[in-house]
Amino acid sequence: MLIAVIPGDGIGPEIMSASLEVLSSIGFFPEYVYLSVGLDKWKRENIAISEDDLDVLKRADAILKAPITTPPSMRNSFSSVTLTIRKELELYANIRPLQSFPISPFKDINIVIIRENTEGLYSGVETFNGKTATTKRIITKKASERIVNFAFQYALNNWRKKITCVHKANIMKMTCGLFKEVFLEVAEKYPEINSDELLVDNCAFQMVSNPENLDVLLTTNMFGDILSDLGAALIGSLGLLGSINIGEKSILFEPVHGTAPDIVGKNIANPTGMIIASTYMLDFFGVKKGEKIRKTINKLFGNRLDLTKDLGGKATTKDFVRTLINLMDN
Ligand code: IPM
Ligand code: MG
Repeated sequence: MLIAVIPGDGIGPEIMSASLEVLSSIGFFPEYVYLSVGLDKWKRENIAISEDDLDVLKRADAILKAPITTPPSMRNSFSSVTLTIRKELELYANIRPLQSFPISPFKDINIVIIRENTEGLYSGVETFNGKTATTKRIITKKASERIVNFAFQYALNNWRKKITCVHKANIMKMTCGLFKEVFLEVAEKYPEINSDELLVDNCAFQMVSNPENLDVLLTTNMFGDILSDLGAALIGSLGLLGSINIGEKSILFEPVHGTAPDIVGKNIANPTGMIIASTYMLDFFGVKKGEKIRKTINKLFGNRLDLTKDLGGKATTKDFVRTLINLMDN
């Protein structure tokens, strides 16, 4: 089993080593190949990710990835490595489970966001003629069918009852219109799963006011990006969410948050999102201990042990990991 590890930028290497420590503590010793892609590589070699790197990623059985910086000031010469990987490996489905922890401000949240991951407003097709800037919002029938079918299969396999299609088809009649049309068509093939729809602005409102009515939220690329950060606030911190990016041939696990440049090197980053992402990888490989790690994180939060700064505590990243590993041993 070959796992490609991307330690990433900013707090990435700190939370990645925290995660790998947790994985070794449960006796998970696959073959790791480390890839230094991102800002540092760009500074050294003037390229953020190479064809060779992509080949290694394509060959791996799974990819474990920390966040990577995309500096906006370099927009002409440095496109997002994260988006490049998603597109090149056709990781078309981005799954972001939102589940309350004992420290979460909103209790009993149990929502899964499924985000189309390869097109929409993040198509990367942009122009600027000196006066007008445009970004093309590309929605294809093919990618919409792929993600909608994926979402219904996911709901069936994970005992989910309802899928809500989140869009803005009243305004973006072509792009969201197509996404919604495909959703309604595919939904007919799955009578056992309830389906409904919400306009994206209303969805943001519902997530805060009536989250218990929501189950699986299926949406396009940028809406999914924004709503998952809103979801992280319901759970208590951006540092708490892990995600799965799935394609036909590859799978990548990463936290939802960014590189947190303000706290780099201080040993105070919350590694939970990265650790949770790695537990999804264990699930994927059929290693039972993933669930145990998640339960132990719950226990740790329930006892309010070693909370990191984002959660109002004083623990360091290393304290958190030590406590987690000790609790699992007990
Ligand atoms: C995320 C991130 C990425 C995205 C960035 C880093 C490209 O915000 O995974 O949510 O926009 O998808
Ligand atoms: Mg995001």
